[in-house]
Amino acid sequence: MKYTLYSKYKIKSPLNYIGGKARILDQLLPLFPKEIDNFIDLFAGGCNVGINMNANKIYFNDNLIYLIEMYKAFQEYELEETISYIETRINEFKLTLTNSDGYKRMRQKYNQQKHPLDLFVLIAYSFNHQIRFNSKHEFNNPFGKDRSSFNSTMKQNLERFIIKLKETDTCFTDSCFNNFNFDNNDFVYCDPPYLITTGTYNDGKRGFKGWSEKEENQLLCLLDNLNKRNIKFGLSNVLEHKGKSNDILKNWLKTNPNYKINFIDFNYSNSNYQTMVRDKKASVEVRKSNNYTFNI
Ligand SMILES: C[S@@+](CC[C@H](N)C(=O)[O-])C[C@H]1O[C@@H](n2cnc3c(N)ncnc32)[C@H](O)[C@@H]1O
Repeated sequence: MKYTLYSKYKIKSPLNYIGGKARILDQLLPLFPKEIDNFIDLFAGGCNVGINMNANKIYFNDNLIYLIEMYKAFQEYELEETISYIETRINEFKLTLTNSDGYKRMRQKYNQQKHPLDLFVLIAYSFNHQIRFNSKHEFNNPFGKDRSSFNSTMKQNLERFIIKLKETDTCFTDSCFNNFNFDNNDFVYCDPPYLITTGTYNDGKRGFKGWSEKEENQLLCLLDNLNKRNIKFGLSNVLEHKGKSNDILKNWLKTNPNYKINFIDFNYSNSNYQTMVRDKKASVEVRKSNNYTFNI
């Protein structure tokens, strides 16, 4: 059993992931149990949370299969091979901050071949570095003209991320949260899409299952079942956001007074043109544990 909660030197995901928890790790990680055997990052996204855990084994799960394929490639290839592959592709397609045609040709290539590392190349040059697929599972995020490139920060984040992956016992899976098999030694961290906020993974119109009240209820039911099995869990979510209220979550909390709630300051200022004016009113981030006293 390992004791350290997380390394002081935090690893940042190389992806600018919508809803990524990089900015609140300082508040979030001290809330986790001190000893974790299997850490399950059930909605891994950019892997910001799991990559900073020191458990015996870390499982990263996300139903975005192409994302998981990319992470698996990071694991399988040597670091130098990955970097060399990316830089070769950048040269081959003459990718720059302004070459929109090169980006489109690269995107076409990825959609034809689905080489997992090409997804990273595309993300590097896509608008806001975002990942978006259409219902035919074609990557369709536009070019990040004058803004996105495989810059030195992204390269450094990628290298540090891959090094940490390679020195950790990890497993990547692409199940829907409902189909994941849990073990008694697991600590299950859930950072699902939030019912009352918007992310490209929320609407269900992009070839991947969306997030509606049905999934919200299923997840809360799953957490209650874990609790019955004495499996510890943590959940990140928002109760209120921009005038909307998550009443399903609020009612669930009322009926489960034994779950411990921690409020976290989180200004949801997504780096998106539409929301350039930052939301000054901090949303409430809630995380619950089953019968567990957090080390706060
Ligand atoms: C809020 S993001 C996670 C962000 C992550 N914690 C981070 O810090 O980078 C939620 C993730 O849940 C995934 N997701 C959505 N529906 C899912 C489902 N039914 N099963 C598993 N993953 C799902 C999305 O693809 C998305 O990556």
